Amino acid sequence: MRRSGCVPAVAAAMVVLLLLSTASQGRRTERSVKSSEQTFVFNYTLAKTIVEYASAVYMTDLTALYTWTCSRCNDLTQGFEIRCIIVDVQNCLQAFIGVDHNLNAIIVAIRGTQENSVQNWLRDLVWKQVDLNYPNMPDAKVHTGFYSAYNNTLLRPVITNAVRKARKLYGDISIIVTGHSMGGAMASFCALDIAISLGSDDVHLMTFGQPRIGNAVFASYFAEIVPNTIRVTHEHDIVPHLPPYFSFLPNLAYHHFPREVRLCITYKVYC
Ligand SMILES: *[C@@H]1O[C@H](CO)[C@@H](O)[C@H](O)[C@H]1NC(C)=O
Ligand SMILES: *[C@@H]1O[C@H](CO)[C@@H](O)[C@H](O)[C@H]1NC(C)=O
Repeated sequence: MRRSGCVPAVAAAMVVLLLLSTASQGRRTERSVKSSEQTFVFNYTLAKTIVEYASAVYMTDLTALYTWTCSRCNDLTQGFEIRCIIVDVQNCLQAFIGVDHNLNAIIVAIRGTQENSVQNWLRDLVWKQVDLNYPNMPDAKVHTGFYSAYNNTLLRPVITNAVRKARKLYGDISIIVTGHSMGGAMASFCALDIAISLGSDDVHLMTFGQPRIGNAVFASYFAEIVPNTIRVTHEHDIVPHLPPYFSFLPNLAYHHFPREVRLCITYKVYC
C-alpha cells in the first residue's frame, strides 16, 4: 500500500496586487437576469470573502468543514451551503463545492499539496509542458503536473458534476473558483474547464500566489475564455492569517510541520 504524507506549510507573507482591470460592472442578481449580466465587482470585501474559502479548503477536520463550523468558516462566509467535499488522499488534494447565498454564487475551492512529489512538481514546472487537448487551442501548452492534478484525478468529474447540480437547483448563478499556490494553478484549469464545458461566461477565478501554468498562447486563450480572472500575487495585506499551506512558489521555500502529517490511503468524496 502506498503511503504519502500531506505536509502543509506556512506561506511566506506577501503584498496585494489586485488586477482590478478585469473587474466588471455592478451586480444585481435576480433570477430572471441573464447570467452574462450577473457580474461581480471584485473589491476588497469580496476578495477577503473568497480568500476565506481558499483558506478553509486547507482544513483537515472534515466534519467541521461539512457542517461549516471550522475555524475559517465564519464571518464573511456565514451561511455557506457546502454541497460536496472531495478528499483525494492518494494525491493529497482537497476541494469543496458549495453555494454562497449572500453572493448568490457557486464557490469551488481547491487545495493542492503532495509532499512526496514536490520535487516532481518543481521539475514539471520548469521543464515539462503537455499539449492541452481542448479543441480550438492549437499551440497552447500547459504544465503537465498541475494540469494532470486537475484533469486526471477525481477533481474534474466531481467538481463539474457538482457545479452542474448546483446550477440546476439555483439557476445560472455565478461560479467563483479559487485556490492558493498549486491549488490556484488547479483552480485555473478548473475555471477554464467549467467555462468550456458549461459554456458559461459567468465563471470567475481568483487565485492567491499562483504559479504560471502555461505558455503565452495558452494565456491568451485563457484570458478570452475566463476574462474574469484576478491573480493575487502578494496576499499579505488581504490574508493576515493564512492556514498552513504549501507554498513552494514563488520563492521555492517551504517548511515541514511533522504534526500535520496525515496518511494518504484512499479516495473519499462526500457529497
Ligand atoms: C464589494 O463586494 C461585495 C460583494 O459582492 C458587495 O456586497 C459590496 O457592496 C461591494 N462594495 C463596494 C464598495 O462596491
Ligand atoms: C484529460 O482528461 C481527459 C478525460 O479524462 C483525457 O481523455 C485526457 O487524456 C486528459 N488529458 C491529459 C493531457 O492528460
